[in-house]
Amino acid sequence: MNHNLDKSYQDDILIVDDTPDNLRLLSAMLTKQGFEVRKALTGQAAIASALADAPDLILLDIKMPTMSGYEVCQQLKANPRTEQIPVIFISALDDVIDKVKAFAAGGIDYVTKPFQEAEVLARINNQLNLQRLQKQLIEQNRELARSNRELAQFAYVVSHDLQQPLQSITGFAKLLLLKYGADLDTTAHEYLNRITDSGNRMQRLIQDLLSYAQVDKQAELELLDCNLILEQVLDNLQSTITEKNVTLTYVPLPKVMGSETQLIQLFQNLISNGIKFARPGVLPAIDISIEEYPGHCLFKIQDNGIGIAAENLERVFEVFYRLHSTKEYPGTGIGLATCKKIVEFHGGEIWVTSELGSGTTFCFTLVTPSPLL
Ligand SMILES: Nc1ncnc2c1ncn2[C@@H]1O[C@H](COP(=O)(O)OP(=O)(O)O)[C@@H](O)[C@H]1O
Ligand SMILES: [Mg+2]
Repeated sequence: MNHNLDKSYQDDILIVDDTPDNLRLLSAMLTKQGFEVRKALTGQAAIASALADAPDLILLDIKMPTMSGYEVCQQLKANPRTEQIPVIFISALDDVIDKVKAFAAGGIDYVTKPFQEAEVLARINNQLNLQRLQKQLIEQNRELARSNRELAQFAYVVSHDLQQPLQSITGFAKLLLLKYGADLDTTAHEYLNRITDSGNRMQRLIQDLLSYAQVDKQAELELLDCNLILEQVLDNLQSTITEKNVTLTYVPLPKVMGSETQLIQLFQNLISNGIKFARPGVLPAIDISIEEYPGHCLFKIQDNGIGIAAENLERVFEVFYRLHSTKEYPGTGIGLATCKKIVEFHGGEIWVTSELGSGTTFCFTLVTPSPLL
């Protein structure tokens, strides 16, 4: 049976052995199985052959006169052009194979002479399959990173370009109201107001999408005082806090490594959610606490709001995921997705615990500088 029939090319194996008989034996066996086989009688010839054109796998004798298999393997592993090639050592049954040395030199497996044909083939195929899977993974990762970059770029461009026509729409609706408002009946007024409202909602959506798409673009992290971040956020939310009679409690916060705009966004999203998702008839109370650990700090933002059912806890971080209509609670469903992206970009983690009907706690970690800073 030819193991290579299902593939578009034949795997190319380099056999290195100073005994011509061994070379012939192995070569015949592997050729019969459909492999492309190359041979080398010395370590030097093997290295030259691998450098000229990397084989898919090398079978390498350990005991050779001028250069041992260990040395050959070390040299192959030290060269970026040949380091990826899997090396299986060949040792004679009466030699004591130094397995530790073989693996330390970069070998991946070994077979012993005299060969058990089935065993040698199984070991070779095993390594070739692993190698193929690894190549596939690397390729898929590269592809994934590329498509992620493209998607972020796309979201950025689209949301950016959508702003302009939208501004025309709301601008002209306002102009109509301003210039011809007196001549229009109440229905026309209502329609124009609806256009403006929808336009404003869409503007909000586009803004949120833009900040979501931009998170990993602003790469500079600096040492920031979270107390100042919080101060800024409370300033931004001042009118809502007063209007909704929010009780806010917090402790002194540490310094962290971060991007200022992003951390403001993070705290602001979480605090404004806590205020927005309040229980009817219950004044919102937000508490911010921390737990300090070596190298990072855990932040907890707790509210006394409507809570989130256990089955929805995981999904709230997805883009556009919302549990309520915009009539009940306005929003775009991008806030928490952006928070997650920000925290992860900063090397931390974010999660949520909640009890339906009594409140929610968002927890996230941020990197803190070493005590010397
Ligand atoms: N503090 C909270 N209490 C209860 N539910 C919350 C809270 N924060 C977020 N949620 C739920 O998670 C959803 C997603 O939040 P988010 O991404 O900030 O979107 P938005 O605030 O625009 O609705 C919200 O629509 C809400 O259902
Ligand atoms: Mg929100």
